[in-house]
Amino acid sequence: MSHKILKKAKLATGIYDYFIAHPTLPVFSKPGQFLIIRIDERGERIPLTIAGVSDGAVRVIVKCVGKSTYKLATLNEGDEVLEVVGPLGNPSEIEFYGEICLIGGGVGAAPLLPIMKALKEAGNRITAIIGASTSEQLILLEEFKRTAHELIITTDDGSLGKKGLVTHRLEELLSKGNNFDRIWAIGPTIMMKFVSAIASRAEIPCWVSLNPIMVDGTGMCGACRVEVNGSMKFACVDGPEFDGRFVNWNELIKRQHQYQEQERIALDLFKKEVGDLSWL
Ligand code: FAD
Ligand code: NAD
Ligand code: FES
Repeated sequence: MSHKILKKAKLATGIYDYFIAHPTLPVFSKPGQFLIIRIDERGERIPLTIAGVSDGAVRVIVKCVGKSTYKLATLNEGDEVLEVVGPLGNPSEIEFYGEICLIGGGVGAAPLLPIMKALKEAGNRITAIIGASTSEQLILLEEFKRTAHELIITTDDGSLGKKGLVTHRLEELLSKGNNFDRIWAIGPTIMMKFVSAIASRAEIPCWVSLNPIMVDGTGMCGACRVEVNGSMKFACVDGPEFDGRFVNWNELIKRQHQYQEQERIALDLFKKEVGDLSWL
């Protein structure tokens, strides 16, 4: 069954917001879960975290990084994708904790949206730190302003908000005496690794959403295996959220890069096929 793209908006260079028609996902998906999309018969299966739902549609926010995500960006409203499977993975553990710090790096801010809304509804006080390389790459600021009790913006180049990495701001808050009962961090793996190291020193439980390479998303292929607290876990069925203090980050980073050469070749061929991509 194919699924129509009902709405598509450009949020930043190479980052697109899609609402895709789906009969069941809007009803059954919960914050923290993901879906797998396959664009066409020859397409790869790409996992994407659910950034929200609306009547009859599921929202995903996607950064173009390789062949499939670029190909998705070439589709427009009214076009269809072949398969959208989900919801997959376990929902975030939403409950009342007290003080929460949410940390979103780049496009990783998108999956934090539904988590933030649910945590707020559960009565938590939310401090959000949202960072990107530069102001143009900061996304969803209005939605974060509306929901977070406190919003801290960072850019690597200082073009908006505080100059520096999200981890600098987290360390600053902790050194000023802010006490958080939980941290949630989603973004580049290296960011989640360093947020987890800070959380570990401060002894704060820290949920991260892991993004290893996935294939089936249902626990069958083993592609997404990660080591957590010395045990082997499958991110797709045991996660995707884990306490980052116990993740073997170096192993995850090594596995994420195992197909880099093939990914580069696939993207180069795709770029030759479609020609100009400067509109991205
Ligand atoms: P490729 O050239 O294939 O790969 C580029 C990079 O993406 C590689 O470095 C690789 O580490 C990673 N990657 C490649 N294939 C996969 C795969 N099958 N599974 C996971 N990572 C892969 N990205 C977003 O922009 N928005 C999201 O909401 C989002 N949510 C995710 C949720 C989960 C649970 C996971 C596992 C990943 C998520 N990602 C998200 C990352 C997204 O899946 C990859 O960017 C995408 O699969 C890359 O495909 P590609 O063909 O464009 O690039
Ligand atoms: P990016 O590389 O531009 O980084 C965004 C921000 O993360 C930076 O501005 C900085 O504040 C922080 N950061 C980066 N490197 C850091 C470091 N070494 N130490 C501390 N902080 C650091 O972000 P991008 O290009 O938008 O990539 C976002 C990533 O998020 C992608 O890798 C994507 O796969 C991932 N993602 C994950 C999920 C998930 O559910 N796990 C969902 C969406 C996106
Ligand atoms: Fe196959 Fe997780 S993606 S086991």
